[in-house]
Formats: sequence, C-alpha cells, structure tokens
Amino acid sequence: MKIQIINGPNLNLLGVREKSIYGNTDFVTYLDELRKRYPTVEIDYYQSNVEGEIINKIHEVGFSYDGIVINAGAYTHTSIAIADAIAAVKTPVIEVHISNVYKREEFRHHSMLAASCKGVIAGFGMDSYRLGIENLANI
Ligand code: DQA
Repeated sequence: MKIQIINGPNLNLLGVREKSIYGNTDFVTYLDELRKRYPTVEIDYYQSNVEGEIINKIHEVGFSYDGIVINAGAYTHTSIAIADAIAAVKTPVIEVHISNVYKREEFRHHSMLAASCKGVIAGFGMDSYRLGIENLANI
C-alpha cells in the first residue's frame, strides 16, 4: 500500500505560519507520527510551492500508487491545471485542508479540484491528512 501526500504552496511553513489557523506542528514531525501509526502503509511526502511541480508529481505517482492525499493550499481555489492533472490519473485523490475553509473568506469556499477528487476533508487540523489516509488505505 503506497500513499503519496502532496502539500502545495506555503505549507512548508507549517508550525511557523499563522499558527492560530494552522497550528504549531511542522509537517515533518506530524509525518513521523503518521508513519509510526500506519507501519504497513508506505507514506511518501512531497511539498512544492510551484504549480507545475505539483502537476509533475501527480503524473509521476498517479498511475502506480494506491492513493494521493493533496493539500494544494491556495491553488485549490485557482488551479484548473491541477484539477486536470487529478482527472487525468488513475489513482484516487483526496483533497484535504487543515482549516475549515467554509468558515473563512469567501474565496476559499470554492475548490477547483473537488469535482475531480474522491472526496474532500477540511477543518480537522493536521488530522485531516490521517482521515484521508484511513479512507484510501481502508484502515
Ligand atoms: C489550506 C486552506 C487554503 O485556503 C489556504 O490557501 C492554504 C491552506 C488549509 O489547509 O486549510 O494554504 O489549504
């Protein structure tokens, strides 16, 4: 079982960035906990601030991995190109958000990606990623 987590722009600053919204934990610490919790699942991690690099990663893993959990950050609300990449691959993709985007500014209420995804998880803090993995890995 192989799952790819993809984090988009500004999510390299988790634990530093707007802590009241995104919390105090950096992603690498959280990832370590996830890997310990699910030893039978191979969890790969990729972060990029660059739209095209995110698309390249979706293409790279999207025909061989069992699932992708993506937090595309602000590209969620703007990127037709990432939506097209998700629609183009065979691997199921779950869109996740740390914050409850529906409680925030209106421009965060719309996702360009959601219609191409298996499902969307938002508002559970870092736990949103774990919930995505549990669904994809069926555990
Ligand atoms: C986010 C929500 C987005 O609106 C925002 O641009 C982010 C993070 C979240 O995880 O809550 O960068 O995807």
